[in-house]
Amino acid sequence: MHNTLESPMLSAVVDDLATRGWSEQANFLPADLVRALATECRRRAAEGELNPAGVGRGAAQEVREAIRGDHILWLDPGESDDCDQYLDAMDELRLAINQGLFIGLEDYECHFALYPPGAFYRRHLDRFRDDDRRAVSAVFYLNENWQPGDGGELRMFLADEVVRDVQPTAGTLVVFLSGDIPHEVLAARRDRLSLTGWFRRRGNEPF
Ligand code: OGA
Ligand code: MN
Repeated sequence: MHNTLESPMLSAVVDDLATRGWSEQANFLPADLVRALATECRRRAAEGELNPAGVGRGAAQEVREAIRGDHILWLDPGESDDCDQYLDAMDELRLAINQGLFIGLEDYECHFALYPPGAFYRRHLDRFRDDDRRAVSAVFYLNENWQPGDGGELRMFLADEVVRDVQPTAGTLVVFLSGDIPHEVLAARRDRLSLTGWFRRRGNEPF
């Protein structure tokens, strides 16, 4: 497999997860790959492949723009070389986390997400009440030339009432423990693109 990742970066993510439950890495993947992923996300959005995201799970899922206003497209392997490179990189990260933290992450599910101007995602945890397989969240941003005034920060609510804002700048990866860190996405002034996903443990499918 083509090795897209530098292992010091993988070790840093694993160390951060172990010590504080979250990690932020700038320039996680090569800039040309990040640009290609952004282009693919925009093209597929223009072709109508992205749909308003739902809230909740299974039959109870519904679109509620007062909670989240992004449009998403779930990814499967084999859709494009660029997406496959991203999925390969996340698989390397999954194995590194398993080696370092003994969590036993079994797979990774992910989608493109596009927040149109004004869209947000209210404070939440990435874990469903009836399904706790999501163990580690990973968000990878695709926005070149993001400016502080553009908004769209990921706001994480950490221990001791510390709040941490991350700019959704192209190439930045944020990883955090899904059950531990409440977070929200602030409204942006321009389209905000990402690949958002979850490493999952094995579990019993409740439905
Ligand atoms: C999510 C989410 C964060 C982000 O999709 O669950 O919290 O920064 N995304 O896009
Ligand atoms: Mn989330």
